[in-house]
Amino acid sequence: EVTVHRLPAELGKVTRALRRTGRKIVLVPTMGALHEGHLELIRAARRVPNSVTVVSIFVNPLQFGPGEDFDSYPRTFDEDLRVCGREGAELVFAPSSRDLYGDDPRTTIEAGELGRELEGASRPGHFSGVLTVVAKLFNIVAPDLALFGEKDYQQLVLLRRMARDLNFPTDVQGIPIVREHDGLALSSRNRYLGERERAAALTLSAALAAGVHAGSRGPEAVLSAAREVLDTEPVVELDYLRLCDPELGPAPHEGEARLLVAAKVGGTRLLDNALVELG
Ligand code: PAJ
Repeated sequence: EVTVHRLPAELGKVTRALRRTGRKIVLVPTMGALHEGHLELIRAARRVPNSVTVVSIFVNPLQFGPGEDFDSYPRTFDEDLRVCGREGAELVFAPSSRDLYGDDPRTTIEAGELGRELEGASRPGHFSGVLTVVAKLFNIVAPDLALFGEKDYQQLVLLRRMARDLNFPTDVQGIPIVREHDGLALSSRNRYLGERERAAALTLSAALAAGVHAGSRGPEAVLSAAREVLDTEPVVELDYLRLCDPELGPAPHEGEARLLVAAKVGGTRLLDNALVELG
């Protein structure tokens, strides 16, 4: 049975007591509306030997910009709790905004240059909001390990970097993207898509697949193969298509690279990315 805590101090007491008995504390941060992608993170947490899995569920206002979907973001708390129980997560941390932030927070974490690129270029302040809430979760839960999806690849890179730069003792690991049978990356926001938009959304993963396939022909070929697929779909408003190194620096000429895409389909912002082997 899963135990729910709303107060940071109480959850922290429990995880620290468990840690002293030798259990590994594994944290899976989420904003709820749990889907199969989140479940893979919980399952990976459960596979860590002698571990306790903590799932946090908190729709973080700090990472939403004005005009974004904070108010309409899907909230399915009761179902999320059932799913956490079914998957064997022991603890759920679901604070209120006030319990987490208090009434006059002033300090935030700045993500640096990469925080203003790619997603950050369209969403100013977004990554500062993400890093700030995750830093708070790390301090509250004191996890040995925290798991994040490669779906939000830039988020994963920035969180790894934060843990290193700020000496968090938490190990940050990524989990591969979970997709629908046709290739669409699972996302809580997919439920916003109408039928026509759902079909158009498929061009993102299809474009990445074409890019991956062109990897042996070099970086230019990867980008043009992917762009060709995206160009066939007028309903997709491309934000960026970029080839980078695994840390999101400039693309290498050979070896491992990441191909990342972001687009608006209808009003919905979608993200996807894939590993490309160049050369
Ligand atoms: P959320 O969008 O709920 O995602 C929670 C975690 O699930 C993230 O690490 C995300 O990358 C992962 N995830 C989502 N879809 C996935 C998929 N299709 N395959 C694999 N993993 C997937 O990301 C956030 O919440 C927030 O920014 C958070 C880190 C919780 C901070 O508020």
